[in-house]
Amino acid sequence: MTVVAQLTQVSKSFRDGELRHSVLQAVDLTLHAGETIALTGPSGSGKSTLLNLIAGFEKPDQGQISLNQQPTHEWQDAHWSQFRRQSLGVVFQQFNLLTPLNVKNNIAFPLQLNGKTWSEWCDYLVEKLGLEAMLHRSVEALSGGQQQRVAIARALAHKPSLLLADEPTGNLDDVSGKQVMSLLCELAKESKTSILMVTHSEECAAFMQKRWHLSHGNVAIYG
Ligand SMILES: Nc1ncnc2c1ncn2[C@@H]1O[C@H](COP(=O)(O)OP(=O)(O)OP(=O)(O)O)[C@@H](O)[C@H]1O
Ligand SMILES: [Mg+2]
Repeated sequence: MTVVAQLTQVSKSFRDGELRHSVLQAVDLTLHAGETIALTGPSGSGKSTLLNLIAGFEKPDQGQISLNQQPTHEWQDAHWSQFRRQSLGVVFQQFNLLTPLNVKNNIAFPLQLNGKTWSEWCDYLVEKLGLEAMLHRSVEALSGGQQQRVAIARALAHKPSLLLADEPTGNLDDVSGKQVMSLLCELAKESKTSILMVTHSEECAAFMQKRWHLSHGNVAIYG
């Protein structure tokens, strides 16, 4: 099976005044094409940090991260931009939508970066996520759950090979949450998108094939 992301002996700590606060300690992880993984662990255990390391927004103190079987420590900014633009979808914990833009232009943004235009797939996403009626509204005017659904559509618009999603259903009701989960599973199956999804919900975690549980700097692998 093709390896999409691999972490080898990755350690990460942050400065905390005079001290250093260790978040990840010599973590080894492998994510294959089409694999879906629920990332769980207590608040502050380093789940968002792990996603940020894989997306290249943070750098490891030690160890190696490979993406699409290439060691990323040699990548320059341009290489990271290209990888993110073409292969990566991210649903951030705080959504990070482009507030001057409306819903449709937020979703179309990753397509434009790739020189592509709105497709049938985008219509499908919009329908599945219940966003049809709000395509021309400014994202600032939307509720938290509506913004979260826009963030999910934006992350999936270019059919990324790797999706990193930080509590993507945290602001959704049960029904919308389940719809998002089936959409993610469908995408993983049909497009071989690998999914690493942070969740605090057992029900959402159950939709994924495997679980990585983070605590005290280490990851336990289940499934
Ligand atoms: N940029 C940063 N600078 C300093 N400390 C940081 C930074 N990012 C994360 N941390 C620290 O690393 C630890 C892990 O944070 P992280 O956000 O990864 O946790 P989390 O598991 O995502 O928590 P939550 O479930 O609350 O979102 C925390 O103690 C946090 O304060
Ligand atoms: Mg977090």
